[in-house]
Amino acid sequence: MPLTGGGAAQHAGQFEFTGDDFARIRAFIYRYAGIALAPGKMDMVYSRLARRLRARGVASFSDYISIVEGGEPEEVEAFINALTTNMTSFFREPHHFKTLAERLAHRPAGRAVTIWSCASSSGEEPYSIAMTAQDALGGRTQASILATDIDTNVLARGREGIYPVDQLDKVPEAYRRRFFLRGDGKNEGFVRVKEDLRRMVSFKRLNLLDHEWPMRGRFDFIFCRNVMIYFDRNTQQAILERIARVLQPDGLLFVGHSESLHHAQDLFRICGNTTYALRS
Ligand SMILES: C[S@@+](CC[C@H](N)C(=O)[O-])C[C@H]1O[C@@H](n2cnc3c(N)ncnc32)[C@H](O)[C@@H]1O
Repeated sequence: MPLTGGGAAQHAGQFEFTGDDFARIRAFIYRYAGIALAPGKMDMVYSRLARRLRARGVASFSDYISIVEGGEPEEVEAFINALTTNMTSFFREPHHFKTLAERLAHRPAGRAVTIWSCASSSGEEPYSIAMTAQDALGGRTQASILATDIDTNVLARGREGIYPVDQLDKVPEAYRRRFFLRGDGKNEGFVRVKEDLRRMVSFKRLNLLDHEWPMRGRFDFIFCRNVMIYFDRNTQQAILERIARVLQPDGLLFVGHSESLHHAQDLFRICGNTTYALRS
């Protein structure tokens, strides 16, 4: 990744933040999480990290980034949590859920279906998968969903499974009644995912760049959506090679609407709208 130092650039906020500080932040997050932060994101980085500087009582970004570079685990976690972009929604890119439902409906009873949501954010994606699977399988077969993300804050929200009611706009009415409990009193305006659906999903922290992925076996479906956009071409390729090794030979990989796999054609073939199968 080209890193423009831009030592002259300076942010005019409460804390001293130079172009060199920004370059160090870009280099760290790229090395640690594969995230290629665009050069134009200096203001965004300032506003997202200023709270951490206050919390740590440091006066400059230079001092702050030295703490992160020093590898203090809690601060590295807080730094990553602050800088990830977690935008998501229930049934986002709905064609994937339609394909999933069709595949599951034709699946003979037997071995539990395994599904991995590898950038699950706050749970809307894995719970949409779980609702689809419950409905399509109709109790014939179990489904288990592994939901992983690098950001521990969003994982905690996913585990809790509490969402504002107005985020359910794309959830079909029948699913709202079947899979959510409405809050009352101080929880008015919120819903909670019912326990049987929550039990289908396990939330775990996983950095896709980690050398070891702890899972054993292969998945029938992998959702890797709207995360590869943050990675450069080489990182995407390396992750896709690893994903290919944990997808069942007849499995499907779903990617985000702006994530094409044409540079990984030796691994995957397209078989639907942003839907891929392993090349045999
Ligand atoms: C924009 S959200 C996409 C959420 C969901 N997949 C969707 O499409 O709605 C991107 C997620 O990728 C996660 N992420 C970024 N870098 C990651 C990495 N190296 N390993 C795992 N997750 C990462 C972020 O924390 C964020 O929650």
